[in-house]
Amino acid sequence: MLVIGPLLPPADLAAVQEAAAALPFGDGRVTAGLHAHGVKANDQAQPGAELEAVLAKLEAALRAHPLFQSAARPKALTRLIVSRYNIGQTYGLHVDNALMQGLRTDLSFTLFLSDPESYDGGALVIEDHFEARAIKLSAGEVILYPATTLHRVEPVTRGTRLAVVGWVQSLIRDPAQREILFDLDQAVDACFAAEGKSAQFDRLSKTRSNLLRMWVET
Ligand code: NI
Repeated sequence: MLVIGPLLPPADLAAVQEAAAALPFGDGRVTAGLHAHGVKANDQAQPGAELEAVLAKLEAALRAHPLFQSAARPKALTRLIVSRYNIGQTYGLHVDNALMQGLRTDLSFTLFLSDPESYDGGALVIEDHFEARAIKLSAGEVILYPATTLHRVEPVTRGTRLAVVGWVQSLIRDPAQREILFDLDQAVDACFAAEGKSAQFDRLSKTRSNLLRMWVET
């Protein structure tokens, strides 16, 4: 589980927030799986040129982010969804579909678009075997988390919560392998910063590259 961002500089973020708030919205249940259908009560932005412009900007910023690349190693992303929760809206506990648009969903992400002070409730709550963790990030920040988890969105009790959600099929299916490669990325970068292209750096880079070759699904 990882927080990424803010994805955009403040001026760009403000423009995207404004554009997203002005989008036409419809019932969000159209993208819910069979069992999630009954617990989902939100809106989602309707197709159109304005939506495409918002999504293109956010998807490009996400893909370009080095932490996202390192943690997710994306092979492909599903179509992103702009979701909106007004007062009383919520998304009850559910697990995301394993397959979406022909992709295996390894990772889920939520990009928070609304300023957290502008609404109450609306935290994303992710459950594991120990605890339920409530996540409410600053506007422009992304939480990347395993798609294997049960999670929910708490009811909004004031204001409006706008967010963008999406899923990643990773080149590396196994979360433990993804974590090893993520850690190695940090080690390689730190080594280069400290020593430049040293013998140590070459050895570490070679190891990362060869692990990737072993594990990658193309
Ligand atoms: Ni979900």
